Amino acid sequence: MKDRLHAAVIGMGSRGRGLLKTIHSIRDLDIVAICDIMEDRLAEGKKILNELGAEPDCYTDYRRIIDRGDIDLVYVVTNWITHWEICRDFMEAGIYTSCEVNGAASLDECWELVRTYERTGTPLMMLENCCYGRNELAVLNMVRQGVFGKVVYAECGYCHDLRRGSLNNLTHQRMNNNLLRNGDLYPTHGAGPMAKILNINRGNRFVSIASMSTPGYGVQDYLQRHQPDHPLADARSVHYACGDVTTSLLKCAGGEVLMIRHSVSLPQPYSRANRVQGTRAVYSEDCGGIHIDDVHEHEHWEPMEEIYKQYEHPIWQDYQANPDDGHGGMDFLVMDAFADAARNHTEPPIDAYDTATYMAITALSEASVAMGGMPQAFPDFTRGKWTSGRKVCGGKYCLDTEEIY
Ligand SMILES: NC(=O)c1ccc[n+]([C@@H]2O[C@H](COP(=O)([O-])OP(=O)(O)OC[C@H]3O[C@@H](n4cnc5c(N)ncnc54)[C@H](O)[C@@H]3O)[C@@H](O)[C@H]2O)c1
Repeated sequence: MKDRLHAAVIGMGSRGRGLLKTIHSIRDLDIVAICDIMEDRLAEGKKILNELGAEPDCYTDYRRIIDRGDIDLVYVVTNWITHWEICRDFMEAGIYTSCEVNGAASLDECWELVRTYERTGTPLMMLENCCYGRNELAVLNMVRQGVFGKVVYAECGYCHDLRRGSLNNLTHQRMNNNLLRNGDLYPTHGAGPMAKILNINRGNRFVSIASMSTPGYGVQDYLQRHQPDHPLADARSVHYACGDVTTSLLKCAGGEVLMIRHSVSLPQPYSRANRVQGTRAVYSEDCGGIHIDDVHEHEHWEPMEEIYKQYEHPIWQDYQANPDDGHGGMDFLVMDAFADAARNHTEPPIDAYDTATYMAITALSEASVAMGGMPQAFPDFTRGKWTSGRKVCGGKYCLDTEEIY
């Protein structure tokens, strides 16, 4: 095994630059190459790393990084539309590959990633940081211990008021996508953790999805009041495609139902709107706690601070001893989980099948919305392997269990 891993980071937008310090802090790992097609952003990324004492080589074409031949792992942090192609090229070269969260624009790109993985054997991991959120992990821990009994229903979402930020910025990828596409464009922050709780791709799978969207009035209503001269403010000349709220219902092979909400253009405090409901307990992020049957008083939500005392996930127990600052620790945990897999030559905890599944929700929800909420069959990216004891990744970052088959 090499003493130190050589990492590359592709994409120096706000997220890519913001992650450099976190990735740099991973033990026995050097960021030796960074890339962006925009030279000013590349220079900003280099400056951040230089201040941390690192000396990365800079590239405007990621293919030149592949050509170096010395890269062990790559973090792809570009935009929703480019991830899959860049990931595919790194996987073809046998380099451990990860990508930031995104939804697919077509099922084809999901299949392309799965087929590349199966042909090359190169692992792929979606960097879904919310799978390592403190609450999400505590609930996963409790579900695994049977505290929830049989889980039958879950909710999740991305409820984030972005009217003042990226939805207002004509050069940001999120703006273009929300202006032109209608569906759940950002499902994975909720879907990732819930898929782990529901054992998706390991003993269970999504079989269908039906989505509906409201009209999209929120951004333009905001602009008309706050920035009337903005080029998108005039609703008579610009049609805003994405609904203010898109709701999707996913049916699982085990019968469970998952509801996912996408809402980024209305006034609201941030929430991932998580709810997990089983025969013996219920968790609600928005109610701030958990209620366990026969343990907690009738109608009482036990606050998470109390729940942590008994059910803190071991990953978070370990992490508390040495905390990082990104997104309450889950950024560090997911970046380190990927590095850990590359270091130990194991499968990552969120693998190629999981990545394709989470990404596919967007393309399928767009299709369903376009057909008035018509259910769409959910592809089985594992091609049947979900039924038959797939090995879990093992290691300290594992999110799965072999006990479910
Ligand atoms: N997990 C989280 O909590 C979280 C938070 C924010 C953003 N994100 C995700 O991170 C990703 C990036 O978000 P962002 O806000 O930084 O987006 P952004 O559009 O600001 O930045 C993307 C960068 O990628 C560069 N890029 C595009 N194509 C490229 C290519 N072929 N080669 C090299 N560089 C290329 C662009 O020039 C840009 O600088 C998105 O997928 C987003 O969803 C995740």
